[in-house]
Amino acid sequence: MTHPLSSFGQFPGTRLRRMRRWDWIRGMVQETQLSASNLIWPIFVIEGTGRTEPIATMPGVERMSIDLATIAAQRAVELGIGAIAIFPVTPASKKTERGDEALVSENLICTATRAIREKCQDKLGIVCDVALDPYTTHGHDGIMIDNTIVNDLTVEVLCKQAVLQAQAGASVIAPSDMMDGRVGAIRTALDQAGFEHVILMSYAAKYASAFYGPFRDAVGSAKNLGGASKKTYQMDPANTDEAIREVALDIQEGADIVMVKPGMPYLDIVRRLHDSFSIPIAVYQVSGEYAMLRFAAQASALSEEACVLESMLAFRRAGADAILTYFAPRVAEWLAKE
Ligand code: PBG
Repeated sequence: MTHPLSSFGQFPGTRLRRMRRWDWIRGMVQETQLSASNLIWPIFVIEGTGRTEPIATMPGVERMSIDLATIAAQRAVELGIGAIAIFPVTPASKKTERGDEALVSENLICTATRAIREKCQDKLGIVCDVALDPYTTHGHDGIMIDNTIVNDLTVEVLCKQAVLQAQAGASVIAPSDMMDGRVGAIRTALDQAGFEHVILMSYAAKYASAFYGPFRDAVGSAKNLGGASKKTYQMDPANTDEAIREVALDIQEGADIVMVKPGMPYLDIVRRLHDSFSIPIAVYQVSGEYAMLRFAAQASALSEEACVLESMLAFRRAGADAILTYFAPRVAEWLAKE
């Protein structure tokens, strides 16, 4: 007797649900895996000792002084997290038109890098962000002359900033400024200074996104920017072919890892880059994405653990190797108990 549903293609001979019946078979055929070693944990560092400050728009994330950041870094090592990314919260009194504090070797990011490197040795990657926005009074990533962010002059400063960070012990230099030609220039500057082993992770496809709002609160650049946009250097969210050009150029210039940012709204870009290039890809689940998930969880609209882990898997499935996320320590804890 023929099956009543046999007119529908290969059914009933083929039943995909057979492969979903038990944990062991689901585990066996799972196409994507996530581990703590895929994670990069961004942290915000402030002056002082024994100090933390809450960030209203990012509940659960705190700015911390360097001594506490060092303890956090040691926790990252224990949790098996691959790397941390340090973002300095520069006091307003140290911000200038040109962002001079970026080139002070005792500044927050370099001091934090030295302290963490000393404690954690080579058990943890330390990512240092290269851009001027934590240090400028106007909050832009580059030097501003006549209301224009001047490309080549900015790149010269970024090269010096990168070398200083490498001297402090950075394992990864991550230019997030989106100036043209900065990857090649920084690679040359690092090599000339004897840092040919330092990894270059470029924010290659970084979009002019409204999802960075809470980050700008966290580092205090929101009021400096005063509503100004970064559209003259960050990418237009409408574009995808342009991401291919950005990444192709960064690879030519010597990038070791290319990043897509933001994350969840840009999974198509991650997938496209993964299909087009053979290079490790990082994705940044940015502050606004963190806030969306976190506030929804606080309101009991979403299960935090399930949704965050699902978002991590989505990044890996799209083709990302590394994931920058403020959830990193929590994700690592959830994975450890599984
Ligand atoms: C600064 C920088 C930004 C982020 C990382 N580095 C903000 C910006 O470009 O304005 C955003 C990170 C986040 O939103 O979590 N160059």
